[in-house]
Amino acid sequence: MTQPPPILQTLGTQMLFGGDYNPEQWSEDRWQEDVLHMKEAGVNLVSVAIFGWAKLEPRDGQYEFDWLDRVLNLLHEHDIMVNLATGTASPPAWLVKQHPEMLPMTRDGVRLGFGSRQHYSPASPIYREKAAKLVRKLAERYGKHPAVKMWHINNEYGCHISECFSPETTAAFRNWLKNRYTTLEELNRVWGTAFWSQAYYNWDEIEAPKAMPGFYNPTHYLDWRRFSSTMMQECLQMEIDILREVTPHLPVNTNFLSVAKNLDQRALAQLEDIVSMDIYPDPERKDAHLEAALQADWTRSLRDGQPWILMEQAPNQVQWRGVNRIKKAGQMRLISYSMIARGARGILYFQWRQSVSGSEKYHSGMLPHTGTCSRTWQEIRQLGQELKNLPELSYAPQTQVAIVLDWDSWQALEQESHPHTGLSLIGQIASFYQALSRRNIRVDFVTSEHDLSLYPLVFLPSTPLLTKASCQNLKKYVEDGGTLVHSYFSGITNEHDHIHTGTEQGSYNPHLNEVLGIKILEFDPQAPSTVLHLDHGWKASDWVDVLRLNTATPVATLQGGDHAGQPALTCNLYGKGHAYHLGVQLDQNSMQEFTDQLLSQCGLSAPLDVPEGVEVIGWKDGTLFILNPTSETHTIALPESMTSLLSGQATTSLLLPPMDVAVLQPQTQPSPVLL
Ligand code: GAL
Repeated sequence: MTQPPPILQTLGTQMLFGGDYNPEQWSEDRWQEDVLHMKEAGVNLVSVAIFGWAKLEPRDGQYEFDWLDRVLNLLHEHDIMVNLATGTASPPAWLVKQHPEMLPMTRDGVRLGFGSRQHYSPASPIYREKAAKLVRKLAERYGKHPAVKMWHINNEYGCHISECFSPETTAAFRNWLKNRYTTLEELNRVWGTAFWSQAYYNWDEIEAPKAMPGFYNPTHYLDWRRFSSTMMQECLQMEIDILREVTPHLPVNTNFLSVAKNLDQRALAQLEDIVSMDIYPDPERKDAHLEAALQADWTRSLRDGQPWILMEQAPNQVQWRGVNRIKKAGQMRLISYSMIARGARGILYFQWRQSVSGSEKYHSGMLPHTGTCSRTWQEIRQLGQELKNLPELSYAPQTQVAIVLDWDSWQALEQESHPHTGLSLIGQIASFYQALSRRNIRVDFVTSEHDLSLYPLVFLPSTPLLTKASCQNLKKYVEDGGTLVHSYFSGITNEHDHIHTGTEQGSYNPHLNEVLGIKILEFDPQAPSTVLHLDHGWKASDWVDVLRLNTATPVATLQGGDHAGQPALTCNLYGKGHAYHLGVQLDQNSMQEFTDQLLSQCGLSAPLDVPEGVEVIGWKDGTLFILNPTSETHTIALPESMTSLLSGQATTSLLLPPMDVAVLQPQTQPSPVLL
């Protein structure tokens, strides 16, 4: 396998396995027992002191590290690596008491109180100052500790608080705007403040978009979202700068929380050495494994395919949904392998030992309330042992299709005062993702500025904000032979979310109308109850683009209703490629049939024929992951004799019970089986 970048060599090449370890919640006599159980479960990495600030600095400037020394020494004695947290996600009560101005404020002007976590505004200067001091102290004290192999910065930026409407944050917003626009004239132009008498003549007149009588200014709001994400990015950068200065030999990381709209994760990911994600699919959902899979593919894509770490998943149930189902027997293991198949080189959990007090006492732990007799423990232990025995892996899934997700455009799409306020970017992506997954076609997420030439097929969900440069990129992609699926409500506005110039020539997508071979004359959003009928027996909803065809040909046409006979899906041959325009929201069956047509046209197929519902993920080195999330046992024929990395047996066919998995390598593969 390719060696990890030098900075990541601290983590070794073995599969990482472990979880959040919060020893401060327990008396010290438990710690010894903890590490012995960790060894039994195959744990090799734990994240320590994530919420440790109050215990590390019980009074302003007075640090107490002895307890952490003892924890780290104990872990090291047992050969367990530490992902040491900087502890900055939950400031202590004394700090909040001294500086209540650091508490976040809601859109309605309510100051949030102490007693939970993340009770700080990311823009607060005092929060940043005190956090920086703690980080430096930790780095100086533990940078050379032999157990410490990586930094865990903060925790899930934006999990509870991703924007703050306090006066302090508003002041930071004004500064950010001054840097961005230099003059008020420019800001007024970009925000389009001639509308509704919104012109600003003094920087102090600008506020955060707090509760207001009517619709907010969309560019004001868009800049607010950019600013709010940048504040969290600055907090991350501030910690990284200190850690790289004091401990340049240790990799830095922060854990993200699922595909999030409130944080530009791709921007933050570029600052760290390895990406990690916390993934909590809902076991109540039949397609929980797909929910997790989409998140995993997204995570891998944040650093363009590099291996990543699943920093948290629930060993069993969570406590934060309305109703918290348990995971089915084998489901946690199956999802863990699905993560590995998608490039995860670490499987970690929240949390090691289940709490007995606090708001997460009903959240499962690797070592549950009911101890080592529990099903959860047995499953954790089995997986830990299995992963320990895996040989070195390449973590390089073979992907064939790209889905565009532009963070700025996401902010612009789901706004008020729009043709349709019910559009959901993730909903559209999930529909296409599901159709591809059903055929075992694997996906990367990209931006509209990426080099798309690696992908025979690219899906662009509703992406209203598309710069001219992005339009050029998409045009070149099709010209050079790619197949683009361009969804309704895309390419309408520029980087300021202003309607594109050129639209006055008669089309809502002036920069792509030649590629698509159509003009978009109007859009006619549909009420939630409306079902649109198309030929081929297809159904659709939500939206109808009123099109004029130039060079494109119709693929599906509306039957009946106000737009009877109008094309709903078109295809244009442009250069060496194909550009489809989807002017309606297809239902899942229709999306499946359309996707099947695209796959066959692009010559894309699964790495292996498997029964419906079984997942197969192929890697560039020939490794195959086969997962059975269905409730039936399946027999699967392999194209050649392959070695199972889990059983050590060579085989040409598999009998895969429900929730079971297989990891197979061609026999020519040099990697030894270590069982
Ligand atoms: C995560 C968080 C953990 C824990 C977990 C519970 O979002 O990082 O600290 O709260 O959720 O599911």
